[in-house]
Amino acid sequence: MWRFNYIVYTVITFALSFANSEYTYETKWFTVPLDHFSFQRNETFKIKYLVNDTYWDRSRGPIFFYTGNEGQIEQFAKYTGFIWENAEEFKAKIVFAEHRYYGGSMPFGNKSLDNEHIGYLTAAQALADYADLVDYLQGGAQKPHYPVIAFGGSYGGMLAAYFRMKYPHLVTGAIAASAPVHMFTGMVPCDVFDRIVTSSFSFAGDKKNCSANIKASWKVLRNFITSKNNTDWLKTEWRLCDAVNTTNIKSLIDYLKDMYTNMAMVNYPYESSFLMPLPANPVRSACQFLNKELEGTDLLKEYTGDIAVGKVLEMYTNYDKNNKCVDFKSDNYGNLDASGWDYQACTEMVMPMCTNETDMFEASTWNFSSYSEDCHKKYNVFPRPDAARIQYGGDRLQAATNIVFSNGLLDPWAGGGILNSVSPSTIAVIIINTAHHLDLMPSNKNDPKTVRMTRNIHKQQINKWIREFWK
Ligand SMILES: *[C@@H]1O[C@H](CO)[C@@H](O)[C@H](O)[C@H]1NC(C)=O
Ligand SMILES: *[C@@H]1O[C@H](CO)[C@@H](O)[C@H](O)[C@H]1NC(C)=O
Ligand SMILES: *[C@@H]1O[C@H](CO)[C@@H](O)[C@H](O)[C@H]1NC(C)=O
Ligand SMILES: *[C@@H]1O[C@H](CO)[C@@H](O)[C@H](O)[C@H]1NC(C)=O
Ligand SMILES: *[C@@H]1O[C@H](CO)[C@@H](O)[C@H](O)[C@H]1NC(C)=O
Ligand SMILES: *[C@@H]1O[C@H](CO)[C@@H](O)[C@H](O)[C@H]1NC(C)=O
Ligand SMILES: *[C@@H]1O[C@H](CO)[C@@H](O)[C@H](O)[C@H]1NC(C)=O
Repeated sequence: MWRFNYIVYTVITFALSFANSEYTYETKWFTVPLDHFSFQRNETFKIKYLVNDTYWDRSRGPIFFYTGNEGQIEQFAKYTGFIWENAEEFKAKIVFAEHRYYGGSMPFGNKSLDNEHIGYLTAAQALADYADLVDYLQGGAQKPHYPVIAFGGSYGGMLAAYFRMKYPHLVTGAIAASAPVHMFTGMVPCDVFDRIVTSSFSFAGDKKNCSANIKASWKVLRNFITSKNNTDWLKTEWRLCDAVNTTNIKSLIDYLKDMYTNMAMVNYPYESSFLMPLPANPVRSACQFLNKELEGTDLLKEYTGDIAVGKVLEMYTNYDKNNKCVDFKSDNYGNLDASGWDYQACTEMVMPMCTNETDMFEASTWNFSSYSEDCHKKYNVFPRPDAARIQYGGDRLQAATNIVFSNGLLDPWAGGGILNSVSPSTIAVIIINTAHHLDLMPSNKNDPKTVRMTRNIHKQQINKWIREFWK
């Protein structure tokens, strides 16, 4: 999942998992209409999907269907261990479907993201692709042969839930992990995301020094650049690729903000390297460098001790000792090629974000007009802030059935998650001590008990849905 930083177009990345597991599958292609919703254009193109039917009981085994999100599908296959680890027990066929406009599923090749061609990138089109694919996997039969369980994490989790809601005749049930289906206009306060990041850093340090130091660092950094004019010092000390000046300081601040946010999201109990190599419990590790009372430029780099923001930046960018300079002006997509996400955020997926002055980032307001202007400049589109609520129901999900919404409370995206069960068959699972969709990742010996319990709940629900399917 990605935060849209308007004004400067950088995005934050979300991470998946870091086990060394290498899963194997066949790569296939499936032809879909360019536009499911009109009959004016009849072009088609191919989306990629990955299949493993080694464990599949062809007479009645379920189809485990991952609704791909913003990135190449191989990444999601690699890091969604839950599906692989349970396919044998369920005798399931495994399918990972790639979202249009990501990875290799490009309708117009390398021109797909040009403004002229990007218009067919919507969640609704992607869901319609998945629906066609499921129908094909069922052999186009009027009465489906196999139960289909949708899975997804983050935006993929939203898609899994929406897939069940929109196509209940095709999808038997959905595991929607860390799916911020409430992160839309009018549903949650716009500061909820940064509030969770802040509390994560507050509780990881002694006496809240960690978040207090981060909060104090912004002004120091700005003053340092504008008044001291010592741009080369920071470049050297922080190993930046470029000197910082009043023109690009916004990029550096966004980069640092994304750094803290990413660490909060991937605050996993084991060493990780999906996005960038990070130690176990990265927030706590970062806070070790910010745990005493610091002032002034000591916040940026303290000569005597192993502390300060510069040290956190080093941990974040150089944990594997590659010693590359920090390219703070670049889009930080990590290993996921998520370039299309900003367009989605500018159309259907408008997630208002702001920062309360009580939180550790610089205060900011949500200004839809300027957001909209930026989207128009960049893509020649105007966002529809109510589209997701109207299309998918937002917080009116009472009519939905057979969905598990799981959320780890350390995850900033949990602020937009479903935290209370909606009905006996659309349930919320709260995992108090985990970050972004840890429950779907390959199991690890450091997983907390809560996440193991969550995986058992997923399995119970899937079993129940499959039993009902056969009734
Ligand atoms: C399917 O996955 C299983 C378990 O990861 C593996 O043993 C098997 O070789 C895979 N099958 C194919 C066709 O790749
Ligand atoms: C698409 O439309 C053109 C005419 O506009 C027609 O020649 C072609 O056969 C159609 N293709 C498909 C796949 O229907
Ligand atoms: C885009 O694709 C075309 C045709 O496949 C290729 O010739 C061209 O080099 C590609 N351009 C870039 C920038 O990758
Ligand atoms: C900052 O440095 C630049 C180039 O070194 C110089 O042109 C400019 O006048 C300096 N500004 C201040 C406020 O000292
Ligand atoms: C700021 O730094 C960038 C990159 O180093 C440079 O291109 C730009 O001219 C600088 N701006 C000022 C006002 O010094
Ligand atoms: C900031 O947070 C405080 C404490 O939660 C709250 O009282 C205040 O209304 C918030 N301010 C804004 C602008 O949302
Ligand atoms: C919101 O942005 C618009 C367009 O950039 C600007 O005119 C307006 O003053 C802003 N509103 C607030 C409250 O900052």
